Amino acid sequence: MQLLPTLSVAVAALAQLTAAAPTANGSPVLVRHEWRTLSKVQQLEYLSAVKCMQNTPPRTKALYSGVQNRYDDFVALHINMTDQIHFVGQFLPYHRGLLALFEADLKNTCGYKGAVPYWDWSLDSTSVDSFAQSPIFDATYGFGGNGQYLTDAEKALLVDTAALVIPNTTGGGCVTTGPFANVNASMGPGSSTDYTPHCLRRDFSGDFASQSLNSSLVDIILSTPDFLLLDRRFQSLELDLAGVWIHGGGHFSVGGNTGDMSDMWSSPSDPLFWSHHAMLDNVWNQWQRLNWTVRKAEITGPDTMWAYPYNYFGDVPYKNITLAFELAYGQLGETVNISQVMDTTNMPCDVNSYTYA
Ligand SMILES: *[C@@H]1O[C@H](CO)[C@@H](O)[C@H](O)[C@H]1NC(C)=O
Ligand SMILES: *[C@@H]1O[C@H](CO)[C@@H](O)[C@H](O)[C@H]1NC(C)=O
Ligand SMILES: *[C@@H]1O[C@H](CO)[C@@H](O)[C@H](O)[C@H]1NC(C)=O
Ligand SMILES: *[C@@H]1O[C@H](CO)[C@@H](O)[C@H](O)[C@H]1NC(C)=O
Ligand SMILES: *[C@@H]1O[C@H](CO)[C@@H](O)[C@H](O)[C@H]1NC(C)=O
Ligand SMILES: *[C@@H]1O[C@H](CO)[C@@H](O)[C@H](O)[C@H]1NC(C)=O
Ligand SMILES: *[C@@H]1O[C@H](CO)[C@@H](O)[C@H](O)[C@H]1NC(C)=O
Repeated sequence: MQLLPTLSVAVAALAQLTAAAPTANGSPVLVRHEWRTLSKVQQLEYLSAVKCMQNTPPRTKALYSGVQNRYDDFVALHINMTDQIHFVGQFLPYHRGLLALFEADLKNTCGYKGAVPYWDWSLDSTSVDSFAQSPIFDATYGFGGNGQYLTDAEKALLVDTAALVIPNTTGGGCVTTGPFANVNASMGPGSSTDYTPHCLRRDFSGDFASQSLNSSLVDIILSTPDFLLLDRRFQSLELDLAGVWIHGGGHFSVGGNTGDMSDMWSSPSDPLFWSHHAMLDNVWNQWQRLNWTVRKAEITGPDTMWAYPYNYFGDVPYKNITLAFELAYGQLGETVNISQVMDTTNMPCDVNSYTYA
C-alpha cells in the first residue's frame, strides 16, 4: 500500500507530460491536426497504425462474413448502418462518434498516441490540376495516389461506385503507390458484407474537386444560419452534381466512378475516409463554435433516409430527430444519444475528447 501514493504521483506527472488537460471523463483531449502540418514521423506513425489495424484479428467476423481484420470491423459497421446514417439528421453526429471510436481503437489496439489527422481538401482544390498534387497522396508520407488509368471500356467492366456520373476522372484502377497499394479491401463495392477481396481503387477528378471542395463553399457553409440547411450543404442540396458539396465532394473527387471512396456503403475501405470525415467534423465543430450557446444543442433533420428535405424520390414518413436520438455502434462501442457527441471536448467515456488545430 506504501507504493500507491508514489505510483499515483508518478502517473499524474506522466499524464501531465504526455497529455493536454483531461476532460470530465478523465481521458486526455486529443488535438486533430491537418495532414500536411504533421511531421514526417507523425505521418508515418498514423499510416502504420492504420496498417496495424489491417493486420490485427477482427472482433465482428461472426456477424459479417467478409470481415478479415480489425480495420474491417469498422467498414462492416458502416456498411450495415449506411441506410440509417446518410441523408438523415443524425449523419454528422453518427460519423463524429464513429470516427472517435476508430481513433480510440488506433490507440487501444495499435498503441497509436495521436489523433486522426484531418484532410483540408480546400487547400488542394484551388485548380483542376492542384488536386492530384496534394501531399496527402504522397507515396511515402501519404496515402498513395490515384488509381491506374483505365480506358472507358476497361471501366465499363467494373461496378459503378458513384451514385452520379463524375466528370473528367483520371484514374479508375488499382492504387499502385503508397502504403495501401497491394492491400486488398475485403468488402464492397455495395451493401453486402460478404468477402469480396479486391484492390483499393481510386479515380480522381480534380475538376469535381475544384467545384465541390473549394474554400468558397466552406465559407458559405460556415455562414449557414441553421442546422437543417447546414446539414443539406454537407450532404446534398439536390440530386445532381451541383447539389453535391463537401461530403460527396471528398468521396467522389477521390473515388470518381469506380473507386472505393465513391461507394456509399463500403467507402471506409479507403483509409482516406477517416481524414475526409475528420475535416467534415471539423467544419461542423467550427460552425458550432461560432454560436456555441445555441449550437451546442442545435440538431434536427429526418430520422429516416430520403425523407424531407432529402425527399428526392417522393415523400417518406419521418420524425425530426432530437438530442435524445440514439446512435448505435454495434459491437464497436456503446450506444450513445446525440447530446453526448455535441461537444467534441466532452465526448463519451469509451472515446477521447478532442479539438481541432
Ligand atoms: C446490423 O446491425 C444490427 C444492429 O444495428 C444488428 O442487429 C445486425 O445483426 C447487423 N446485421 C448484419 C447483417 O450484420
Ligand atoms: C472536363 O474538362 C474539360 C477540359 O478541361 C472541360 O472543358 C469540361 O467542361 C469538363 N467537363 C465537365 C463535365 O466538367
Ligand atoms: C487481392 O484480391 C485479388 C482478387 O480477389 C486476389 O487475386 C489477390 O490474391 C488478393 N491479394 C491479396 C494480397 O490478398
Ligand atoms: C467553388 O465551387 C462553386 C460551386 O461549384 C463554384 O460556383 C465556384 O466557381 C467555385 N469557386 C472557385 C474559386 O473555383
Ligand atoms: C446565436 O443565435 C441566436 C439564435 O439564432 C441569436 O439570437 C444570437 O444573436 C446568435 N449569437 C451570435 C453571437 O451570433
Ligand atoms: C421537421 O422540421 C422541419 C423544419 O425544422 C419542419 O419544416 C418539418 O415540418 C418537421 N417535420 C416533422 C415531421 O415534424
Ligand atoms: C443522453 O444520455 C445521457 C447519458 O445516459 C443522459 O444523461 C441524458 O439525459 C440523455 N439526453 C437526452 C437528451 O436524452
